[in-house]
Amino acid sequence: MSRILITSALPYINGIKHLGTLAGSMLPADVYARFQRSRGRETLYICATDEHGTPTELAAAAAGQDPSTFCQIQHDVQYDLGRKFGLSWDHFGRSSSPQNHKLTQRFARELWEAGFIEERITQQVYSNADKRFLPDRYVIGTCPHCGYTAARGDQCENCTRVLDPADLISPRSAVSGSEDIEIRDSKHLFLRQSVFSDKLRTWIDSKKGEWPLLVTSIALKWLDEGLQDRGITRDLEWGVPVNAWEWGPNPKGETPDIEGLAGKVFYVWFDAPIEYIAATWEWADARAAEAGRGPAEDAEWERWWRQPGAADVTYVEFMGKDNVPFHTVGFPCTLIGVNERLEADGSWRLANNAPWKLVDQLKGFNWLDYYGGKFSTSQKRGVFMDQALELLPADYWRWWVTANTPETSDATFTWEQFQAQVNADLADVLGNFVNRILKFTETRFEGVVPAGGEPTELETKLYADVDAKLAELTDHLESREFRKSTTALRQLWVLGNQYLTEAAPWTAIKTDPARAAIVVRTGLNLVALFAKVSEPFIPFAAEKIAMGVGEEFPGVWPTGQGAAILDILPPGRKVVAPQVLFKKVENEQVVEWVARFGGSETE
Ligand code: 2FM
Ligand code: ZN
Repeated sequence: MSRILITSALPYINGIKHLGTLAGSMLPADVYARFQRSRGRETLYICATDEHGTPTELAAAAAGQDPSTFCQIQHDVQYDLGRKFGLSWDHFGRSSSPQNHKLTQRFARELWEAGFIEERITQQVYSNADKRFLPDRYVIGTCPHCGYTAARGDQCENCTRVLDPADLISPRSAVSGSEDIEIRDSKHLFLRQSVFSDKLRTWIDSKKGEWPLLVTSIALKWLDEGLQDRGITRDLEWGVPVNAWEWGPNPKGETPDIEGLAGKVFYVWFDAPIEYIAATWEWADARAAEAGRGPAEDAEWERWWRQPGAADVTYVEFMGKDNVPFHTVGFPCTLIGVNERLEADGSWRLANNAPWKLVDQLKGFNWLDYYGGKFSTSQKRGVFMDQALELLPADYWRWWVTANTPETSDATFTWEQFQAQVNADLADVLGNFVNRILKFTETRFEGVVPAGGEPTELETKLYADVDAKLAELTDHLESREFRKSTTALRQLWVLGNQYLTEAAPWTAIKTDPARAAIVVRTGLNLVALFAKVSEPFIPFAAEKIAMGVGEEFPGVWPTGQGAAILDILPPGRKVVAPQVLFKKVENEQVVEWVARFGGSETE
């Protein structure tokens, strides 16, 4: 049986995430991880905060904190919110961890020595007033493409074009606002992405039809436009220091310019994906510490990432579409680059016998919008994780977001649709069913699973219908089709309500107690089944439901067929109706929330 390694895009440290971030990475990864665990597969779900880069330094400065303090505080906030949302990370790491420093530095050295990193003199914006270089967002100016006057040095928010700080017209410092700025030469390292084009194209072509079209088409568009070599260092203080003093010669026999590279750090998009691996190392170290031993052996985390030990691992990544280029081009170049070596004569050869694994399945998502406009962290537009939990329990959000996962196109959040859907699915269908059958058992069967009665045609039909829906649900989850899986699950819940209505135990009990007994027992078994298969989506409610029928939580994904699938609960077991599972969202609440967060006028 294969092991499953799951990563979701690492949330930036600079602020609490909104529902859009949850929808496009962390939540689907969690649903998938919970599903795989309940199938009995050894599963590792890794996430971390993405802590380096100019946005962090700027956010820390705005908060009046040094970056290290700021990151520690914000990491804890994000960890806490993730847990309250039921995100079942095996480890939630930090890209600023010592493990990531070590691994990033090691990969950089290997890439240099294998011939994939080059030094170049670049023109960087320097602020005389601030006495520092101003990389990326540290410069603001007019976009040379669209004329937007508040474009940032890395990207224009208005026309979305990627920029170089030196491209901006009338540049000014984001630190002091000073326009006393000049262009200075600065030495930087470039990852030679262009030499990987053919290898990447062969690899991406082999994923066509297997990965979402969204993902392969974004990747191929980048390759078609011609891969550019990419600057992987910055003139910043907060980050992983460039360790050129440790590097040997490259295949051409050249040694790095240690002085010219002094004081630089790696670019955030270079070290962030390496943190997927380093966070696995953090996880292994944490487990070793819990077991009362020293740091973990390399083999403990490498078995997830390096061949041949990782041969039985399927590695699945989850991310929004903006992240796809970095995961189909940038990170793969790093990994192929540490696995191979480009000789001075242009030939390639393997650099080691334990190559690092590339992603097997990459699930990319479109955007979840707020009333047709973007959720925005910087503009505080939309619903953020902390606010969401103040309003309603996590399962409401988990259910709605999963049911509306932006898989084939962008999706939009509105309070009105949210209310309608959670009320219909959670309160009217699932909550109502669980409540009806358990209350009836309490009043008419002394809260005990009844024995007796023989299945009739109605039960036989139910077994077949449940089998079919369960197979659909399982297939959709296995292939990471989240919208379709919520549809299948909802239909499964509906089968329960339909069965109860048709079998009408409240009528049968008057004339045929044995008939009422089998109907009630079947209904209670449906409750137990629903607890198991709803757990990936709504774990908090699923746990209450499982407790109600005395089942272990989390349970094992059902594998039986026919009558066996509804033969979970032993007759004689005590059951109890849970407190209200899902309160309906009321109209007055929607009015209040629209007023607080903005509604259709924000479109
Ligand atoms: O877009 C983002 O939110 C990034 N912080 C994602 C990084 S994913 C990984 F490569 F680290
Ligand atoms: Zn622009």
